[in-house]
Amino acid sequence: MSLEKFVEEKFVEKFGEAPSIVVQAPGRVNLIGEHTDYNDGFVLPMAIDRSVVIALRPRADKEIHVTALDIGETAVFDLNNLKNEGNSWVEYLKGMAWAMQNAGYSLNGWEGAFSGNVPRGAGLSSSAALEMATAKAFHAVSEFEWQPAEMAKLGQITENKWVGVNSGIMDQMISASGQEGSALLIDCRSLQSELVPLPHAVDGSKTAVVILDSATRHTHVDSGYNDRREQCEQAAKYFEVKALRDVSITEFLETGDGLEDVTYRRAKHVVTENLRTLNAAKSMKNADAELLGQLMNESHISMRDDFEISTKELDAMVNIAQSQDGCFGARMTGGGFGGCAVALVHEAHVDEFVTAVAKQYEEQTNIKPNIYVCHPSAGASQIK
Ligand code: GLA
Repeated sequence: MSLEKFVEEKFVEKFGEAPSIVVQAPGRVNLIGEHTDYNDGFVLPMAIDRSVVIALRPRADKEIHVTALDIGETAVFDLNNLKNEGNSWVEYLKGMAWAMQNAGYSLNGWEGAFSGNVPRGAGLSSSAALEMATAKAFHAVSEFEWQPAEMAKLGQITENKWVGVNSGIMDQMISASGQEGSALLIDCRSLQSELVPLPHAVDGSKTAVVILDSATRHTHVDSGYNDRREQCEQAAKYFEVKALRDVSITEFLETGDGLEDVTYRRAKHVVTENLRTLNAAKSMKNADAELLGQLMNESHISMRDDFEISTKELDAMVNIAQSQDGCFGARMTGGGFGGCAVALVHEAHVDEFVTAVAKQYEEQTNIKPNIYVCHPSAGASQIK
């Protein structure tokens, strides 16, 4: 049964009638451009065909009554009295309401239920999906114009100020504004984005994007992430610029050697990753899957050696993926310290690729991976 149908049926069981509104927002995978978003740089993610779906109906008051179907919990909160109460899933919804109201949006109440099939904690942005689906739910029952970049900014504020995670803007931007069939090159300074299609192989065949979940989740993810942010900010200060986005590769090579080793390597990753991301977008426009794959491989080395956010499991996964027939390139994706890798694969080789990678990864690590072939999908939308 589709996720949408499942949520609608559960709504009917609970409320005795069909929902008048159904909204969805997807998770994402980033093809290239890692830890560049909070450096005002470039990212190249795509929304995936896994999402959060909320079925709802308006309420006449300012209350939200919402059931998380996956865990069978219901929460109630009042838009006139939003309180941050810790770690529960409902904080993503409350935080979104808080950020939207703070920004001047007048919101109305609703009641409903939601479920999702973005694996949680895997680095595929299940929380951004929940935030953007929540924004869509409010959009459906209130009166304001839907502006994806504005909603994404409020999602980031929710993460930073309400949930307490210091993340950048990429996940919310792609969940809010993804397009079916394309990845998006996003300039994280201007928030302008450009559609970029997946490239074809030389023989004209399609390529597939395969997500390789290492099934490992490491501790210290947040501190590792926050440390990297600080190191990047220090490097930007050294170069006397607003953000590392403003440092060209020439400037970096000419004047960067005054940085101490770790900060030097962190900055090197960001400066070169921005360049790789722009080149990746060009390679996609030129339908050059070989070049895109090569840039993905280089990006992995940079994250492994200079940014130091990979793990032995992710390295194993990436090496195994890269050594398969029909694989153009592979890299870890997302924040790092566990989670997923992403590979670009010739469509004709996908099935054997998936089987071989799963088998070899398990042999090497004793861990069963989760592998998803995914399609570039639409951003947040109202389905009904
Ligand atoms: C996480 C954050 C994003 C981004 C990536 C790394 O997914 O939420 O903002 O920084 O890590 O590219």
